[in-house]
Amino acid sequence: MEFLAEALQAYCELHSTEEPEVLKKLNRATHAQVLQPRMLSGHLQGRFLAMISALVRPKYILEIGTYTGYSALCLAEGLAEGGKLITIDVNPELEDMVHHFVKEAGFENKIQMIIGDAYQVIRTLPQTFDLVFIDADKASYSKYFDLIIDKLAPGGLILADNVLWSGKVIDEKSLAKDKDTQLLDAFNKKVQADPRVDCMLLPLRDGMMLIRKK
Ligand SMILES: C[S@@+](CC[C@H](N)C(=O)[O-])C[C@H]1O[C@@H](n2cnc3c(N)ncnc32)[C@H](O)[C@@H]1O
Repeated sequence: MEFLAEALQAYCELHSTEEPEVLKKLNRATHAQVLQPRMLSGHLQGRFLAMISALVRPKYILEIGTYTGYSALCLAEGLAEGGKLITIDVNPELEDMVHHFVKEAGFENKIQMIIGDAYQVIRTLPQTFDLVFIDADKASYSKYFDLIIDKLAPGGLILADNVLWSGKVIDEKSLAKDKDTQLLDAFNKKVQADPRVDCMLLPLRDGMMLIRKK
């Protein structure tokens, strides 16, 4: 489900900073070569991620769910001098394409991709993160939050994508029978009730939860 009418979406994109050329190319290549191109963040959400990153100026960013690297490239735009983005994906078939576009963007020294199951990989990371983007398997969002919260700097931000799950989080039938919907709804409720954080559920694209550690 698109929450915004197509014409309004187009208007928003037209009146936001233009998608950089390398991201236009990556967007086209993903649609031409990769399954489920709808997973890619896209122009408007991508500019939102870049804007947040530019405001935070993070030293370390963690991304869970690389896919073809679109959101990683957006988030890396805001890194502080000498900063690093670590992005994790379980699918090794994406690695060559991600490396190609990371190189084309000139971010080889800024972005490190790790192939593996995020839940296992995150436990091994020694960094304290200033910005985290959760965009992988929806059923694990709560588990990721629990792992990350102690690795997040005070004042640090977590962004979690797809938390409205095409509107299913308010659909009784989906809530009764669909596991991902139940677990995303549980994630939203858990974050909202956690006294360690402030949060805001933004109706951007498929719903973006903004979480700030106090
Ligand atoms: C929605 S896509 C990410 C889109 C990307 N962040 C973007 O905006 O362009 C989700 C990705 O999560 C990956 N994924 C799913 N389960 C995972 C897991 N357990 N660990 C790491 N990555 C996983 C999938 O392979 C897929 O590439």
